[in-house]
Amino acid sequence: MRLARERFATHWRWFVAGTLCAALTSIAAASYGYLLKLVVEGLEALAGPDKVEVPTSLWWLIAIIGVAAVVRSLALYGMTIFNNTGVQRAVVDIQADQFGALTDGDFARIAAEASGGFVSRFINDVNALRDAGLRIANNLTKGILTVIGVFITMLVMDWKLTLVLLVIYPIAFAPVLALGNRVRKRSRQSQRQIGEVTSLLGEAFQSARVVKAYGLEDYQKARAERGFVERSRLFLKVLTDRAAVDPILEITGGLALVGILALTAWRIAQGDTSLGNFVGIVGAIAVAAPELRALGTLNSVAQEGGAAADRVFEITDAAPEIADAPGAQPIGFVTGTVAFDNVRFAYPDGTEALKGLSFIANPGETIALVGPSGAGKSTVFNLLLRLYDPTGGVVSVDGTNVRDITGASLRSNMGLVAQDAALFDDTIRANIALGRLGASEADIEAAARAANAHDFILALPGGYDAPAGEMGRNLSGGQRQRIALARAIIRAAPILLLDEATSALDAESEAKVQDALAGFAKGRTTLIIAHRLSTVRAADRIIVMEDGRAVEDGSHGVLMEKNGAYRRLVDLQLS
Ligand SMILES: Nc1ncnc2c1ncn2[C@@H]1O[C@H](COP(=O)(O)OP(=O)(O)OP(=O)(O)O)[C@@H](O)[C@H]1O
Ligand SMILES: [Mg+2]
Repeated sequence: MRLARERFATHWRWFVAGTLCAALTSIAAASYGYLLKLVVEGLEALAGPDKVEVPTSLWWLIAIIGVAAVVRSLALYGMTIFNNTGVQRAVVDIQADQFGALTDGDFARIAAEASGGFVSRFINDVNALRDAGLRIANNLTKGILTVIGVFITMLVMDWKLTLVLLVIYPIAFAPVLALGNRVRKRSRQSQRQIGEVTSLLGEAFQSARVVKAYGLEDYQKARAERGFVERSRLFLKVLTDRAAVDPILEITGGLALVGILALTAWRIAQGDTSLGNFVGIVGAIAVAAPELRALGTLNSVAQEGGAAADRVFEITDAAPEIADAPGAQPIGFVTGTVAFDNVRFAYPDGTEALKGLSFIANPGETIALVGPSGAGKSTVFNLLLRLYDPTGGVVSVDGTNVRDITGASLRSNMGLVAQDAALFDDTIRANIALGRLGASEADIEAAARAANAHDFILALPGGYDAPAGEMGRNLSGGQRQRIALARAIIRAAPILLLDEATSALDAESEAKVQDALAGFAKGRTTLIIAHRLSTVRAADRIIVMEDGRAVEDGSHGVLMEKNGAYRRLVDLQLS
């Protein structure tokens, strides 16, 4: 209902046009029975042993039936086109809403759910909504008006028979309504499972290399087959319920026919009604029956659409937790002081990643974060970008709590190369240019050179126009990293965040990138996460993290002297 109001209502013009056509169709359809009755009565008058002329009025009547058929078909065509247009437009709005809510919403939500679940919402839920929208738009008005129109003509022709029918028909609808509820429940279950299968498929194809290398074909096939079997089981359940609707209506229809024929034979013999009336009523029922049937299944289709709408609202109604605070200010370009003050943080699943982390990076400094895997290094970047809010303590930039800065202006101050150098399925050029919208050709090339990427890009078929492939799959790991680095460089932001940005490069390439970066990093606050300690020697300060805290902080020389955690890491890597 809400969906009807918010999303379908904006396209009301199409639905009004569709409904007018539906009304026209219904009027034409409802007139059939009566026209038929008149024709049959005309024919009865002709019957008999004597030869007579066919009266002009009868010719006219027959012609009018033809006209009614043409009007009905044309209106039907118009109705379908108008309603479809309206529904398609509403569906586009709904999809855009959903995608917008997910993209603008919390990073945590996307990080937490399997991507397949969302993909399924876009494809399956939207299909269910489209079907329901179309069926309602096309069948509801037409069905109800036709049935009412037919009912009136039937009353006029033979009210006794009509009342008998009126008692019989509703009996057929009780089981149909009950089925609708079952269908709704099951279809929700089935949609959720489609999401699981979608995830499974995406995962299987993305990790094809590992599957082959480890000989996991059978494992994957078994997993997929379980998914497919479950899928078809749920699908069959829904289908069984829905399939029961037609036979139920068919059976009651057949029984009704038998009763009517018997009743009519008896009444015509009594002189209570005429053959014309009977043929007219049969004609009227023939017109109304498919409409009634459609109305019967309409309920279950609408239920499925309702289930889909619920899932859509789950997405669009969730208010992001990390929204700009009411008084949040854009911060402009910062000088680049970054401070963590006793910051504590746990991921939504409860994993404590930071347990009282404190450090300050002064403007223009290059700070390295080192420490064992899982120590919380990447988490520092997540909080600095405000993808999550800390559970305790304060993260600030230029002395301002990041909560009091608008998200957009905070992030425009940061260039990030994440651990998974995410590229998009677009050209190399576009992937670099995404760092700063409106970047010039010269900027792109300069950034690529700084990232030591220019030469290998030129060697690609197509050069800067070569496609990166889905998630950058056309490139090697080191090439992906350099493109991601070029993207961060072109952003020319005051704060540069590099998470294992050169880990996949050979020593020589890395040295080249380091040189270029040293020039670029001047005047910018640079945070570097690296496991390879040769990468961080030149940093102004090195912060050693262990288990969510900073355990040492100082230059390479000082920390080596200190003979503590850093020294141990260095010795381990050298030995
Ligand atoms: N999205 C997440 N949901 C739940 N827990 C997470 C998530 N990301 C990280 N963690 C957990 O938080 C802790 C710190 O993770 P983090 O990614 O910051 O480590 P890291 O120091 O970057 O490690 P690495 O050197 O391996 O990249 C780990 O225990 C990890 O399991
Ligand atoms: Mg990490």
